[in-house]
Amino acid sequence: MSARKITVVGAGNVGATCAQRLAEKELAREVVMVDVVEGIPQGKGLDQWESAPIEGFDTRVSGANDYGPAEGSDIVVVTAGIARRPGMSRDDLLRTNADIVGRVSSEIKRVAPDAIIIMVSNPLDVMAYVALKETGYPRARVVGMAGVLDTARYRSFIALELDVSVADIQALVLGGHGDTMVPLASYTSVSGIPLTQLLAQDRIDALIERTRKGGAEIVAHLKTGSAYYAPASAVVQMVDAIVKDKRRILPCAAWLEGEYEMRDLFLGVPCKLGAGGLVEVVEVELTDWERAELGKSADAVVRTMATLG
Ligand code: NAI
Ligand code: 2OP
Repeated sequence: MSARKITVVGAGNVGATCAQRLAEKELAREVVMVDVVEGIPQGKGLDQWESAPIEGFDTRVSGANDYGPAEGSDIVVVTAGIARRPGMSRDDLLRTNADIVGRVSSEIKRVAPDAIIIMVSNPLDVMAYVALKETGYPRARVVGMAGVLDTARYRSFIALELDVSVADIQALVLGGHGDTMVPLASYTSVSGIPLTQLLAQDRIDALIERTRKGGAEIVAHLKTGSAYYAPASAVVQMVDAIVKDKRRILPCAAWLEGEYEMRDLFLGVPCKLGAGGLVEVVEVELTDWERAELGKSADAVVRTMATLG
């Protein structure tokens, strides 16, 4: 199963890596990259397409500076914007990226009125809100990528700590994509064994703290930008669930309409993804501490939305 056309807006680090992985996994017949910088999407698209005979994929990859080739896309991944540099928080990106994402969203609405948007640009939860407002799409067709990445980071750190396969680690990180995200120890297990039976609480706390600062850790290493390999993998997992109607439960940013007793904001929650995008928000029981932390995370998202006005 694959989509007819997937467009990736922003052919930078995350966008180009996404396009390449989408093509290599043949998740669409056609992958189009759109970017404002002349030559970059065209060059990267052609370069990726030239890898097709070696990698053995038939997905056509191309790039453009306009939205013509994106017409009729089934899925649009939005990575356009500026990325974090050392010392910058995700919220520092707010105004610049809100302006970019607003313009990109109105183009998407024009050429792909039935598309599902996967938002990646930061600050994630608020950029998803900008896209929802600008397009007027139903909430099922605007979801944000953050929880899959944050959960992957948490799982990868647990695997290192316990020296076990990442495949055996189940976990859930909820909340906004920021320092207030909420890794849920109560939903973390290793082949069904609760993490609390395998690790002391102070070690779990340290892994949670590292996860919360996972994005900044990569920025501190790279210095000129932020993470892109794991973020691209996270987007591709969401696309795979949608395109193949897998109905996977993945942590994504969804527009809440009363779930978790919250509404009118995007927040990372367990989401069932399938054909059509968000099938449903899955509500899980939370401890008092987890519920309070999720509330704090929601407050941080609402404050950023308010800053934007
Ligand atoms: P990048 O700087 O490598 O790429 C961004 C691209 O967007 C550039 O090629 C730029 O020319 C393009 N662009 C700017 N304005 C545009 C417009 N109006 N239309 C089309 N393209 C435009 O940045 P990178 O590393 O790819 O990150 C992209 C965004 O994703 C950033 O906002 C970053 O913070 C965010 N991000 C979010 C993650 C998440 O978990 N949600 C994870 C990683 C990055
Ligand atoms: C990350 O978490 C910067 O949001 C980006 O890596």
